[in-house]
Amino acid sequence: MHIGTTNTALTNDILPLIKKRWSPREFDSLKEISQENLQLLFEAARWAPSSNNEQPWNFIVVTKNEPEQFNKMIGVLLEGNKQWASKASALVLTVASLRSAKNNTENFHALYDLGACVANLSLQAIELDIFTHQMGGFYHDKAKKVFQLKENYTPVSVIALGYLPENESFVTRKEEVLAKRKRKSLNEFVFKNNWGNPFFEVNDFQKN
Ligand SMILES: Cc1cc2nc3c(=O)[nH]c(=O)nc-3n(C[C@H](O)[C@H](O)[C@H](O)COP(=O)(O)O)c2cc1C
Repeated sequence: MHIGTTNTALTNDILPLIKKRWSPREFDSLKEISQENLQLLFEAARWAPSSNNEQPWNFIVVTKNEPEQFNKMIGVLLEGNKQWASKASALVLTVASLRSAKNNTENFHALYDLGACVANLSLQAIELDIFTHQMGGFYHDKAKKVFQLKENYTPVSVIALGYLPENESFVTRKEEVLAKRKRKSLNEFVFKNNWGNPFFEVNDFQKN
C-alpha cells in the first residue's frame, strides 16, 4: 500500500539544508554561478564516501556563458526536460566509472557512490542559494557520443543548477509545487528485524 505523506511532526527538525532543498523547474536565467561557487560545489562532492574509496564519480560541466557547449547538453535531454532546463545557469552530466580502478572488476557500488556524491553537491548548493534539479530523462547513447565518454564509463544523470527567480508569480508557483511534494511514510520503508515490520510507530503521516 502506498501512503503519500507530506510533513510529519519531525519534518521541522531535520537539517535546514535538507528542508530547504527541492527541485525547481524554473531558474533566473540571467544569473551566472561564479567559478568559485562551482568549485565549492564539487569540493563538497569530492568528500562523499565511496566503496573502497574508489570515488567512481565524474562530471562534465557546461555553463550558460558558453552557449555552444551549453546547447550540446540541452541537445541530449528528453523533450520534456529541454525547455525548463535551458533556463539553468549550468548543466552537469554525471558519469560513473563502472570498473574498479584498483583491480578492474565490476564496481557494483559505483551508482550508489555517485548518488552520495551528488547529494553532497546538492546540499552544498543550497547553502549558496543554488538549486539543483537532477534528470534521468536524457539520451544515454547520445550523451556518450557527444561527450566522448571512454569505455566502462556510463552517463547517469544531468543536473540543472541555478538561482531561483525572484518575481512574485514565481513565488506563487513555488508554493504550489512545494505543497504537492509527497514522501512515503517511514513505516513503508524502515523495518524492524525483518522485512515489512515497521521499525517506528508512525501514525502522524497525514499531518499537513
Ligand atoms: C535520478 C533522478 C532522475 C530524475 N529525473 C527527472 C527528469 O528527467 N525530469 C524531471 O523533471 N525531474 C526529474 N527528477 C526530479 C524528481 O522528480 C524529484 O527529485 C522528485 O519528484 C522529488 O522532488 P524534490 O526533488 O523537489 O524533493 C529526477 C530526480 C532524480 C534523483
